[in-house]
Amino acid sequence: MTGDDPLEESESGEPTTGEPVTDGGAAGADDVALDPWGSSTVSDYRKLFEEFGIEEVDELLEEVPNPHYLMRRGVIFGHRDYRPVAEALREGKEAAVLSGFMPTGDPHIGHKLVFDEIIWHQQQGADAYALIADLEANSARGMSWEEIDEHARDYLLSLLALGFDPEEGTLYRQSTNRELQDLAFELGSEANFSEFQAIYGFDGETSVSHMQSVVTQMADILYPQLEEPKPTVIPVGPDQDPHVRLARDLAERMRFFKVSKAFASFELEPGERDVVAEFYERLDPADFDDDQLRCVHVAEALEETPLSDLEVDAGTLDSVLTKLREAGMEPVRPRTRFFDRRATDEAFEALIDAVDGEKRVYESHVDAFDLDVAAAEELAREIELAHGGYGFRPPSSIYHRFMTGLTGGKMSSSIPASHISLLDDPEDGYDKVKAATTGGRETAEEQREKGGRADECPVYELYAYLLAGDDDEFAKRVYDECVGGERLCGDCKEQAAQLMREFLEEHQEKREEVEELLEAADVELESPRRA
Ligand code: TRP
Ligand code: SF4
Repeated sequence: MTGDDPLEESESGEPTTGEPVTDGGAAGADDVALDPWGSSTVSDYRKLFEEFGIEEVDELLEEVPNPHYLMRRGVIFGHRDYRPVAEALREGKEAAVLSGFMPTGDPHIGHKLVFDEIIWHQQQGADAYALIADLEANSARGMSWEEIDEHARDYLLSLLALGFDPEEGTLYRQSTNRELQDLAFELGSEANFSEFQAIYGFDGETSVSHMQSVVTQMADILYPQLEEPKPTVIPVGPDQDPHVRLARDLAERMRFFKVSKAFASFELEPGERDVVAEFYERLDPADFDDDQLRCVHVAEALEETPLSDLEVDAGTLDSVLTKLREAGMEPVRPRTRFFDRRATDEAFEALIDAVDGEKRVYESHVDAFDLDVAAAEELAREIELAHGGYGFRPPSSIYHRFMTGLTGGKMSSSIPASHISLLDDPEDGYDKVKAATTGGRETAEEQREKGGRADECPVYELYAYLLAGDDDEFAKRVYDECVGGERLCGDCKEQAAQLMREFLEEHQEKREEVEELLEAADVELESPRRA
């Protein structure tokens, strides 16, 4: 039993189940900490761009066909590598969307964002997957299988009620998906404890099943690509970004070959490669009385250049010089390298055969002189797929903003008044909105004069995230009227409360209508592990 089942966006620093608490590593209180199981406060979304390398959705909106209103309104604010997915949707090519839900409580309006994201991608033609993270709920939150089953059903009914098509899409629960668990086991061979420690703050007390739930999530994220590689997007809150980054790494590590640019027979680190590339462009073999540029020439030229004119640190300079001197008279020639990372012998042989043009074969790599990197990537994937590999593409992600609690502060499922469950009685939903904190002024007079603060108002958020639906004009009108002082909080909340009541009524009716659809769907509703 769990005492507190935080929303993914909620504060929950305390131990909940006797399981280890992860604190997101070294992040201080004012920093943005991204912790999948702990407190994830994002006070400053800009930091996510600067510190974590999440990219802004705004910049790519034009590339997205019929962008969802959550994208248009900046609720979906960030992404990692979403371009390949947008492109596939635009061009009607294969793409997938997947997200997962820990069945630890009622589905609420925060989950609705993710449901909508999955459904929208499905409607744009992507293969859609939604999974119940029951293993994670059991191991990281200590939920019983009875509780898990009850909540799982509720999540699925809401997902279907909102428009997920179970015949086109895939639903599964982690615990009964054998293929998924086999994939998780395989991925585990490329991950180790030190890495989990660094990413999640795990320590010697962390249970093995909690760690297993991590590799299970990695398998979830790559599951849509089991049959064939395809651009895949994982819509989640930014707290899940550590998982996304690890999954992207693992996808890469599972590949048979690593394709890179190289300049000589030996390996260069990225920083070393940049200097060699620069000098290759700059130097003329004639200056060394030679008809070819050789490693020693680059070494000589590097030694004559003051460190301050180079874009490398002393350590990198030192190591690249050593490598170049050891190689001596070897010519410097750009080439595309296939490094054998995990290939079978047959696959490596097949690759060697398949490389067109001039090539040179080494113990664990092949250098191709007439192939560009893009063509080489394609060839590498082709050979991998023909020899039993997955050829995974790094999964992409999109991130939505966390909703503010209706009572101000964070939305937390341990504070019922702070959030609206999709199962709330419509009248209770109405009452919660009526009781919500607002961005309004002290008096009506002041409000007319200065305008309301829609940007800090949880009620405005309800309009933008949910109540205005696809109607941008309506959302904008509420905003403009608010900040212009024409809209007063009493009426505004009344309107929002009524819309919320209607939404909940309709949603709950639809939930009843999709009962049969759920029974017919290919997903187990009862855990075989139940007592
Ligand atoms: N860890 C997620 C959560 O806490 C649930 C989850 C499991 C998930 N597998 C996933 C989310 C795959 C996205 C993709 O809510
Ligand atoms: Fe919020 Fe509406 Fe009041 Fe503006 S008028 S502050 S949007 S409740």
